[in-house]
Amino acid sequence: MSRKLMIAGNWKMHKTVAESVALAGQVVDGLKRLDLDVLVAPTALAVHAVSQRLAGGPVLLAGQNLHWQDQGAYTGEVSGPLLKAAGASHVILGHSERRQYFGETEKTVNLRLKAALACGLIPIVCVGETLEERQSGATEGVLTSQLGGALAGLSADALGGMILAYEPVWAIGTGLTASDEQANQAHAFIRQWLDWRFDKAVANSTRILYGGSVKPANAAGLLGQTEVDGALVGGASLAAADFLGIINAAPAA
Ligand code: PGA
Repeated sequence: MSRKLMIAGNWKMHKTVAESVALAGQVVDGLKRLDLDVLVAPTALAVHAVSQRLAGGPVLLAGQNLHWQDQGAYTGEVSGPLLKAAGASHVILGHSERRQYFGETEKTVNLRLKAALACGLIPIVCVGETLEERQSGATEGVLTSQLGGALAGLSADALGGMILAYEPVWAIGTGLTASDEQANQAHAFIRQWLDWRFDKAVANSTRILYGGSVKPANAAGLLGQTEVDGALVGGASLAAADFLGIINAAPAA
């Protein structure tokens, strides 16, 4: 089954509102590939303004996180319905930086995922092992536990087009990239897990993005792997030329 590639830019805690709108504009204006999905994830602060810049165009918009309650006394948090009303269609969940710095657990990823699905946001759920875990041979165990935790209690028909991102923690922002084979192998393992946990249809249709130091120079190799359905790009998504370079390096559909 052929899955449409997605190139997603995670802008993390970068760019003012004005800079975000400008970057979104450069991406739209420079975009020549309509055979794949392109998505940007600005800070929550910039989602609304960026949505107005992207309106009617092909570039999709995501939040970087959400709280599982729809609203309430949760100072500093942003909910799914608020993100959706601001123009987002997708949301990144369980990013390793949230797990590492903000106490994200499998349980809270699961709560966020259910909240995203309940309000109709398409989740991009991140999983991935640390260097120590890879070196001690624990990669598959870690992926199993992160996937099992994130997807607990969900049935195949509730997944709402969910996208997964395999992001080995040791490759994020480090300049180290998983080799094409390492990425393909981990993705194949995740797909097998989806088949075991759900069914063949879910395994075949779920897009699995690779993330971790993706750049124009290594994108073609990674995106050419049979199990790699796109990229979640951090650093190289902050400059339109690099992000567009990655998009243009993707194999034609
Ligand atoms: P990076 O980040 O491309 O800067 O390594 C990827 C990510 O965290 O999604």
